[in-house]
Amino acid sequence: MTVEIEQSPPAVGLSKIAVSSTHGEDSPYFAGWKAYDENAYDESSNPSGVIQMGLAENQVSFDLVEDYLGKHSEASNWESSKGFRENALFQDYHGLLSFRKAMASFMEQIRGGRAKFDPERIVLTAGATAGNELLTFILADPGDALLVPTPYYPGFDRDLRWRTGVNIVPIHCDSSNNFQITSQALEAAYSEAKNKNNMKVRGVLIANPSNPLGATIQRVVLHQILDFVTKKNIHLVSDEIYSGSTFSSSEFISIAEILEARKYKDSERVHIVYSLSKDLGLPGFRVGTIYSYNDKVVTTARRMSSFTLISSQTQHLFASMLSDKDFTENYIKTNRERLRKRYVMITEDLKSIGIECLKGNAGLFCWMNLGPFLNTPTREGELALWKSMVHEVKLNISPGSSCHCSEPGWFRVCFANMSEQTLEVAMKRIKIFMEQKERSS
Ligand SMILES: Cc1ncc(COP(=O)(O)O)c(C=O)c1O
Repeated sequence: MTVEIEQSPPAVGLSKIAVSSTHGEDSPYFAGWKAYDENAYDESSNPSGVIQMGLAENQVSFDLVEDYLGKHSEASNWESSKGFRENALFQDYHGLLSFRKAMASFMEQIRGGRAKFDPERIVLTAGATAGNELLTFILADPGDALLVPTPYYPGFDRDLRWRTGVNIVPIHCDSSNNFQITSQALEAAYSEAKNKNNMKVRGVLIANPSNPLGATIQRVVLHQILDFVTKKNIHLVSDEIYSGSTFSSSEFISIAEILEARKYKDSERVHIVYSLSKDLGLPGFRVGTIYSYNDKVVTTARRMSSFTLISSQTQHLFASMLSDKDFTENYIKTNRERLRKRYVMITEDLKSIGIECLKGNAGLFCWMNLGPFLNTPTREGELALWKSMVHEVKLNISPGSSCHCSEPGWFRVCFANMSEQTLEVAMKRIKIFMEQKERSS
């Protein structure tokens, strides 16, 4: 993605949304992408360029998808002109039933068959970005609050806040308990929104497994969160976009499983967001879903999904691919093994040079602690180290402050958007930097 540079203010007026800065693109998260765009690393043509470690993209299993497409040309082609015409004209916002069935069954498979999904509750959205925004439009009014545990995915500032006018109030988590969400932190955030800022709290939004922590939320914590939203009579949105990127299926507990264990009591306040962007590594296809246990939310979301549908050609492709059990079983298993291998490779390398990471079990990144190496233990100290990382070491990693982490020194490091060779070059650069730092101190 190329980040636009702001020009001088326009002479002709624009809407409040257009001129507001709540899009969040002025954060170091996006500035690092710009540094990469201007001087991108390439093994042969630009070996001293910036390596992009700030982009949670999954490229480790492309060969499996390509292999499937090579063997199944019918998935991406129209067998007849009748097929072409039917799909060219198809515009029902319910989406193809074959696609919704395949998606529901894929979501069950990722959860080791421990949760059930009804295709009638699947709403199509152009990726999780659109799903999260669409749900926010339905659950909250401008000025209301959603509580979100920190550190959180920087894109939430744009997706939940910018066009909806809804506020994000942080639920602060820190390393003292491995960034787990606690009842006290939930209560504190609720009170800050309601009592201090006079906002109406509409819900809690969690990402499970978490981006940027790369860790799943424990069963007991999910129960606590559900108890909390029930007590306050608010919603719970669970963004489960990395659910197939846990290193094993048993390590991930979906909110769907918790609801099943509770016999779906109070389920009407729960909504799941999912997309194929991470697990299948296909953000360019824009395939996302909202799964809500609330009938009214399903109907409204479906109506609103007219703004952000998935093309019928794409639905046709994934209806075929995801209903092929041989492909999905092999893909899910192999992709998990490869991600785990990358995680072990990077975290052990970092450990060997004295850098610790939070213990992770999911995702396309690790959460690295450079706290001990800050010149000053502050946000400014963190950003100074981040600038050295981007401009001297030539690695774009994301500072914790861009994820609203309240504890300075943590960084998100992505490891699945590059080849193993590039990852080795990145590791070598960090080692040299650490040696220089040690010598100078
Ligand atoms: C937690 C989370 N939610 C949503 C998204 C957006 O995903 P999509 O490409 O499906 O819009 C991301 C992408 O990084 C993410 O990490």
